[in-house]
Amino acid sequence: MSPEIRFELENKFGSIYGEEEERAIVEVLRQNAPTSGNACVAFEEAFAAYCGTSHARACSNGTAALFLSLVGLGVGPGDRVLTTPMTWIATGAVGVTLGAEVDFVDIDSVTYNLDPGQLREKLTPNTKAVIPVHLYGQCCDMDAIDALAKEHGFAVVEDAAHALGAEYHGRKAGSLGATGCFSFHEQKNMSTLGEGGMITTNDPDLFERIALYRSHCTRVYGKSTKYCQLDEEKFPQGKRFWWQDFDDCGYNFRMTDIQAAVGLIQLRKLDELNARRIAIAERLNEGLRGVPGLTLPTVAEGRKHVYHLYPLQIDPDVYGVTKDDFVHRMLHERGIKVGTHYIPLHWSTAFQKRGFKRGQFPVAEQVFERLVTLPSHPRLTDEGVDYMIESIKAICKC
Ligand SMILES: Cc1ncc(COP(=O)(O)O)c(C=O)c1O
Repeated sequence: MSPEIRFELENKFGSIYGEEEERAIVEVLRQNAPTSGNACVAFEEAFAAYCGTSHARACSNGTAALFLSLVGLGVGPGDRVLTTPMTWIATGAVGVTLGAEVDFVDIDSVTYNLDPGQLREKLTPNTKAVIPVHLYGQCCDMDAIDALAKEHGFAVVEDAAHALGAEYHGRKAGSLGATGCFSFHEQKNMSTLGEGGMITTNDPDLFERIALYRSHCTRVYGKSTKYCQLDEEKFPQGKRFWWQDFDDCGYNFRMTDIQAAVGLIQLRKLDELNARRIAIAERLNEGLRGVPGLTLPTVAEGRKHVYHLYPLQIDPDVYGVTKDDFVHRMLHERGIKVGTHYIPLHWSTAFQKRGFKRGQFPVAEQVFERLVTLPSHPRLTDEGVDYMIESIKAICKC
């Protein structure tokens, strides 16, 4: 294996930067690199237009996007928030940190997404929000979730961290719930220098609350400048030019303009970057089809899967090798770093100490015992993909 292919297969870089990003960074630097300024506004407008939503607000990361969505919805003690156990800790943690009760709904064994069929029995009058995760880049069954949301009055917060550019019956991820929450972490399908996030919504009131809490709930009152609003009753101006007030105690989850300038360019490249991911997935499907004991990803009807990760299930009784041995041998014998995303959240110490027990979400647990994720990123060459296929066939003991 050449050093180049080893590099491709040992690293899971999410995106590719080029000269356009370099130029954009220098341009913002020369404007003294402000925090959320003109580049952020341009990025937000372009992102909302891409997703087909009326509003978007940039923030510091995907966790902040989820957290602010729940803050905007008024989630707090006494409320219940439901999500999938098969996700990154952030999705489960945000409700907990706001003092809400967090519970899980088991997954669908084919798509690995939250199973709407099991959602109904988990709903109580206190359920304020459900956070479906478009896992690995494939949208959840949003029609079924939405029907329950309308019937029971909870808000749907899409965790679209993996689903930048993914589609559901022609509509973009992020335009399907009360809010859509994106991550631009270094391993995601597009990135804003390693960290970053975005919240999308079509609800102007919710947007206003989210925007306020993102930046210390600050409002500036005054007589002029486009940033000020006039409220003579609340703050008689007299000779005062402007007055800054804070509606409540909020947070600083702003994005910087350098990140946003890079994000704007990454967004323009997103469809192309995703097309490469889809081509890699198709090549893997082609090469691995028919290998005994492997379950390849299934794309549900009406979905555009953007393969943030390529999930593969291994049946040890048929393939002849357990998941743990597979991961170990792929790394040490073939130089390929295979992932194991994600440990079911109710197995984590964080949720075990909140009373969850092993065995509670059997589908997620069975899937986790067998599921690996293969390297998937646009740097991967066809040669690298073919080497991966050959390695998986070589390790098989069937
Ligand atoms: C499913 C999911 N949700 C939320 C997040 C949180 O995003 P961030 O790391 O940008 O805070 C991640 C990050 O990896 C994720 O994978």
